[in-house]
Amino acid sequence: MSEEILLRANFGVPLKALTAGMHWKNILEFGTCRGESTLAFSLAGADVVTFDNLREDNWRDIYTTEAGKNASKTAQERFKKHGVYHKIDMIIADDKKLPLIDGLHWDCVFIDTSHQFEHTVLELEYSKNVTDNILLDDIGWSVKGKLTVMEAIEGFLKSNPKWFFTGRHDIYGVGWVFKKGE
Ligand SMILES: C[S@@+](CC[C@H](N)C(=O)[O-])C[C@H]1O[C@@H](n2cnc3c(N)ncnc32)[C@H](O)[C@@H]1O
Repeated sequence: MSEEILLRANFGVPLKALTAGMHWKNILEFGTCRGESTLAFSLAGADVVTFDNLREDNWRDIYTTEAGKNASKTAQERFKKHGVYHKIDMIIADDKKLPLIDGLHWDCVFIDTSHQFEHTVLELEYSKNVTDNILLDDIGWSVKGKLTVMEAIEGFLKSNPKWFFTGRHDIYGVGWVFKKGE
């Protein structure tokens, strides 16, 4: 069997470079799954707290992007293998139910969960209180007849005029929303 690819050239590699270039040292992540993004952030020197509401079984549905406990096992093995296990806190919880942690500020929040409109709205609203940089994966995601991630971002920008959107990056559909300087 061929050796596992450490980071994909169009996803993990640019996420790592961005994290290193921005000197992000602590990152809050929604959606761990197999942990490629988590690995990229930690290899760039950041500490990561990452949430996932993994299912009990090993089921994986590419349309809803839900993952099972097997994904978490894979992620943990990866983190150990690449010497970053100590930099990562994996928490199994639904990010829709997260309480605001008073006073805690993150260099970046990375949103990579269900890519559903209502869920993304909640994640953006949560994130704006704890960071000035929000990365969202798969911003081109859409399900026929449903509101999209991009529409969630547009609504967020309208009601939060201090926030700015960089446009879609060539990182597997990653978008970057950040707070403008005063
Ligand atoms: C696309 S995968 C994340 C991929 C991961 N960032 C990586 O680079 O390997 C989406 C993950 O979001 C998780 N997820 C979906 N809804 C969630 C929720 N409400 N709270 C926390 N995690 C959720 C799924 O279980 C799944 O593992």
